[in-house]
Amino acid sequence: MNIAIDGPGGSGKSTIAKILAKKLHFAYLDTGAMYRAIAYYALEKGADVADEKTILPLLSDMEMKVWEEGGVQQVSVNGINTTPYIRENRISMAASTVSKIPAVRIKLVELQREIASKTDCILDGRDIGSYVLPNADFKFYMTADSKVRAERRHKELLEKGQDIPVEALLEEIEKRDLQDKTRSFAPLVVCEDAVVIDTTDLTIEEVTDRICRIVCK
Ligand code: DC
Repeated sequence: MNIAIDGPGGSGKSTIAKILAKKLHFAYLDTGAMYRAIAYYALEKGADVADEKTILPLLSDMEMKVWEEGGVQQVSVNGINTTPYIRENRISMAASTVSKIPAVRIKLVELQREIASKTDCILDGRDIGSYVLPNADFKFYMTADSKVRAERRHKELLEKGQDIPVEALLEEIEKRDLQDKTRSFAPLVVCEDAVVIDTTDLTIEEVTDRICRIVCK
């Protein structure tokens, strides 16, 4: 069984997906981490994430591995474990930008489909229900007011020692939403068959319960 959870950054997807995966004994795949890993790797190599010409040569001999260690998803690129670095704020926009390149998406989608085919899995991302797994058993689209999402991101980054003003995060979130929603290949869209959950005024428990009522029958 596959469950797709899509939505913009800060909507609560990964928090909910992790809780559900534990509850259902499903694997959890954070597909955003895979785009972040490519962005990190590209920046380390001095490539321009907005320039397809500098990214394509990196893709041809790039091997990505995804596995779990101590309950935390790990992503390596050519043997480098990117996990400790991909949550840095500079990587968020870089991941969104590099994800516009179709060849990047094609490469990652192949791996995502392979992982999803092997096990019961909850995947979160932007295009899971619309492109990666259009036949997913359940599809959810989570969203929230952008100010609330910026505040959540601020808290999350603060816990990791990065103090970035909420206003700057809000601007960035709105820019990233627009970029993710308007790219030409597999943009962030609300699938017709997805259950939409606005998490602005909901607690984590309320969102989990809502999804569980649908999935845990
Ligand atoms: O979920 P996240 O914030 O970690 O994702 C980072 C970026 O990666 C996001 O802005 C767009 C891209 N992404 C994507 O294009 N498709 C996905 N399935 C997941 C993420």
